[in-house]
Amino acid sequence: MRVMVCLVPVTLVLSLVLADTNIIFDNIQTNWEPMFRFYGGGNWHSRNDYILPNKSMDDDHDDEDRAQFRSFQMERWENDINKKVKLELFDDGRKVHELVFDGDFSNKTSWFSPQKLQFSSWKDLSSQFIGDEFSVDGDRDDDNHWTIRNKKSVTCDEEGWLTVIDKPRKGRNRCVCSYEDIDDYPAILYSRDSSKTKWSSGNYGVADMMQISINKFQQMQQPQTQAQPRRFRK
Ligand SMILES: *[C@@H]1O[C@H](CO)[C@@H](O)[C@H](O)[C@H]1NC(C)=O
Ligand SMILES: *[C@@H]1O[C@H](CO)[C@@H](O)[C@H](O)[C@H]1NC(C)=O
Repeated sequence: MRVMVCLVPVTLVLSLVLADTNIIFDNIQTNWEPMFRFYGGGNWHSRNDYILPNKSMDDDHDDEDRAQFRSFQMERWENDINKKVKLELFDDGRKVHELVFDGDFSNKTSWFSPQKLQFSSWKDLSSQFIGDEFSVDGDRDDDNHWTIRNKKSVTCDEEGWLTVIDKPRKGRNRCVCSYEDIDDYPAILYSRDSSKTKWSSGNYGVADMMQISINKFQQMQQPQTQAQPRRFRK
């Protein structure tokens, strides 16, 4: 039920985002299309459900619970050469962070890398990334995915920008830091500031929702009818 309540503000925020984006990519026809969306605590596996087709839905199924969503178009990822990819985090119904990547010649996971990063709302995060992890797979031993980390640490003083903690596999003798000790999976941890955070400081947010969208863009064609006839002076 919480999920349904969240839908309205998210839709509102998304329309604002679209307006913004049109300004950024001025002469490019924009059309952001959601590919994958999940809510914290919603029992999706943020990595496996993104990669495997098991939870795909047809866009036409309006009767489904679309609050958590994986487009069937995910399986065509590599066919769309010309695209951008956007990752957005929402908390309390508003967008809190956004990353935009160049998605050309990427597969489902390879676009999520510093080399492809084109825009970040975290000001200390750019293609000049000097951290030690920036990947969808993250730290798979700990079931941490979508990880953007400054430096791994064995003493729980890791710093980073984003990580999604998925439900750990059973039967592991896992030593967790306090911020990883949670009840509801997945948990979308992000730095609230405009820079990275130290997770153990407790200064981080837990996002309600994360969404991946793609923008299959084309350079706008000048319509023939608008072409100005050339004039030559005698
Ligand atoms: C996904 O579905 C396939 C069959 O369609 C099944 O073999 C596989 O175990 C499923 N994977 C998960 C993680 O549920
Ligand atoms: C995606 O591409 C990366 C690097 O190009 C490669 O290492 C990885 O195996 C690919 N993943 C899939 C699922 O094809």
